[in-house]
Amino acid sequence: MQKMNISAEIAVYESPAELSSADAQLLQQAKDAAETAYAPYSNFKVGAALLLENGTVVPGSNQENAAFPVTMCAERNAIFAASAQYPNMPIAKIAITIVSQKGNINKPVPPCGSCRQAIYEYEIRHKQDIELILQGDSGQVYIVDTMKDLLPLLFDSSYL
Ligand code: THU
Repeated sequence: MQKMNISAEIAVYESPAELSSADAQLLQQAKDAAETAYAPYSNFKVGAALLLENGTVVPGSNQENAAFPVTMCAERNAIFAASAQYPNMPIAKIAITIVSQKGNINKPVPPCGSCRQAIYEYEIRHKQDIELILQGDSGQVYIVDTMKDLLPLLFDSSYL
């Protein structure tokens, strides 16, 4: 028997002030997108901003439903909208953040498992890594180079 070790490197910034101005701007666009969330049930507003290779920014926010499982996350709303509007355009980055009712989540909020899988599909589709920029209401910012770092042993079309 052998043991396999899986590890990932994440860049940790103390605040958006340490980011490049472009990354700080994308994070702000994700924050603005969070304000468009329809989240009357959780009061947990999530915002995503995708930066495409052509410079276009596509926002998304979570949209909830009285039938709870019908809810769609911010990240998938953004990435599906980008794919529908710009089907052949690679995605460079995605910033993800929140505006929570309590307003005090000061650690970065990572995407849920379904969104990780959905985002990874577009790394494969466009043969290009997607950088993730993550923040909570405030506080540290994590930058992850590729979804592969957040989703080890991932499932892709090579198994089909
Ligand atoms: N949510 C997202 O928008 N993205 C995630 O990655 C995790 C969860 C939303 C779904 C729901 O509207 C609320 O956050 C609480 O789960």
